[in-house]
Order: sequence, then structure tokens, then C-alpha cells
Amino acid sequence: MKSFRDSVVYSFKSLLFRTGFKRHFLHTYPYNFFPSHLAFFCECLDKTQNVPGSIVEVGCSLGQTTIYLNTHMHFNGIEKPYICIDTFSGFTREDISYEVDNRQKDKKELDAAFTINSKKWFDETIRSHEQYGTKRVTSYEADVNKFDFKNITPSISFALIDVDLYLPVKSGLEKIYPLMSKGGIIVVDDCNRDHKLWDGAYKAYMEFIQARNLPEKIILGKLGIIEM
Ligand SMILES: C[S@@+](CC[C@H](N)C(=O)[O-])C[C@H]1O[C@@H](n2cnc3c(N)ncnc32)[C@H](O)[C@@H]1O
Repeated sequence: MKSFRDSVVYSFKSLLFRTGFKRHFLHTYPYNFFPSHLAFFCECLDKTQNVPGSIVEVGCSLGQTTIYLNTHMHFNGIEKPYICIDTFSGFTREDISYEVDNRQKDKKELDAAFTINSKKWFDETIRSHEQYGTKRVTSYEADVNKFDFKNITPSISFALIDVDLYLPVKSGLEKIYPLMSKGGIIVVDDCNRDHKLWDGAYKAYMEFIQARNLPEKIILGKLGIIEM
């Protein structure tokens, strides 16, 4: 039997259900990745469990993947710092200009992407999942093109670079690669040469591996892998 409180909540939700607000309380798939991608990241975390170094997520958005992976770490007993970097306000002016001027991308679409966010919201999301050990997460509001990873961690065991455009993916790779421990894994999202907007990630990944004679490995339709 419903308690009084539950009856009030149920009635309130029943009212909202008749309005456009229903999408704010009905369950929706919250992730930016398919289940197969998330499963692969979990596999990477397990595989690199004993590799020294922090975990880095470049481009963490609202924290969906951060919470998912930290929950996995909690239940699998993986304890290491988890570092998140984001502008928390979408793409930078410089990164957008580069795509528009050199890669014929639509400025309006890029200007509008990922802008409704804030570090405060992200940190509160992380704090509200502390039962899953999210105290290990530290977030930095920064442009990856200007960020110095050396100041915050001596080494990295797993890095997810998820910043979509050519310049920030290139910067992320150049800054993270020298800090990777032996046995570590870098994953670059959006390595899909046919993507209308995010194919800059593919270009940056391909240039990076070709310049260093590293093997090309793109799996699950879009994840560019570098294994150390
Ligand atoms: C695709 S979202 C990340 C999604 C997140 N990894 C997830 O799985 O939920 C891309 C993020 O990259 C951030 N971003 C874009 N350019 C950036 C830059 N130059 N430096 C830091 N973050 C950037 C955006 O603000 C956005 O939140």
C-alpha cells in the first residue's frame, strides 16, 4: 500500500504525465555511449587495474560515463584517482574556428553543443554518488589545449579522450601519451571518418598514430585505441 507521501508524489507525477514535463521524470537512457562501449571501458579498467597511474577522462560533460565507470570501479575494488577535465561550457572559440575555417563545419551546431553545463552541477552529481567511492574523482574546469597534466599526476593508466574536434583531441593525445604507463590504454572517442561533425577526432587519432608508427585499431565503430 502506498504511504501518504508516496500517494502525493504519485498524484503529482500523474499530473505532470499529462504535460510536456513528463520527459523530466520518465526514465531515459542517460549515456552518450552504447552499452558495448561502456562494457569495453569497464574491461579496460579491469585490465589496467594493476598498471600504475591515474584514470583520466578528457571531456566529461554531465558525468554520465564518470558515474558509470566509478560505480564499476567501486564494485570491482579498483582504487586510483579519477581525473576529469572539461570546459563545462562546450567547445572553445579557437577549436570551433578551426573546424569552421579548415574543416567546413557548421558554426551554429558547434556553438550550441554541450553549453548547458557547469562544474558546480558536475561536482554535485559526483558528490551525490559518494556511496560508489566517487571521492576519488577530481574535476578541472579547463581547456585541454592549455592544460598541464604533469601538474596533477605523474602517470596515467587509462585515458578516455572524448572532446570530438580536431584540435582538442590532438592536444589531449600529445599531452597524455608521454605520461602513459607501460600496459596503459588510451581510448579516443569518435574515430569515425564518416561522421558529419566529429570526424576531426578521427583525423587527429590517425595523424597521431601514423607519426609514431603505432598500429591503427578502431573498434566498435568509433573507438580509437592506443595500447602502451
Ligand atoms: C561528448 S562530450 C563528453 C561526454 C562524456 N565523456 C560522457 O561520456 O558522458 C564532449 C565534452 O567535451 C568538452 N570539451 C570540448 N572541447 C573541450 C576543450 N577544448 N577542453 C576541455 N573540454 C572540452 C565539452 O564541453 C563536452 O562536455
